[in-house]
Amino acid sequence: MTEHTIRLDFHALLVEHDLLREILGVLSADDNGRSEWISLPAMLDELYDRLSQHFLAEEQGGYMSDALRRAPHLADEAARLAGEHSLFLAEIKECRKEADDQSTPYSADLRGRFRKFTERYFHHEHHENSLVQRAFDIDIGVGD
Ligand SMILES: [Fe+2]
Repeated sequence: MTEHTIRLDFHALLVEHDLLREILGVLSADDNGRSEWISLPAMLDELYDRLSQHFLAEEQGGYMSDALRRAPHLADEAARLAGEHSLFLAEIKECRKEADDQSTPYSADLRGRFRKFTERYFHHEHHENSLVQRAFDIDIGVGD
């Protein structure tokens, strides 16, 4: 992986996180009227496309293959995490369907649903990072 690729990936993550925050802002009551001109369905479509790309990048060439070569006993945990990808995409589609059926102000249900999605997604990312970290800790002999 080149330095250029790493920078692009990091930029993509920042844009993704900004988008999650913006969607939460549009769904919340304190969005200062932005929902007047921001299309929530379009934002959810963009999120769907970005996360599809993100998951594809993770899965290309074998999900967590470097980490699992070092720590094969983490394979089940990695498989569970990989299985969450399609659930996240399905959840965005569901939110999009709900958003289509509503107009501003959006319902507290949809807001709560998307907030939970965001929490689960951040937890997923954190869990992936932690798995890779543990695999490398084992590799250099600091894992327990
Ligand atoms: Fe992932």
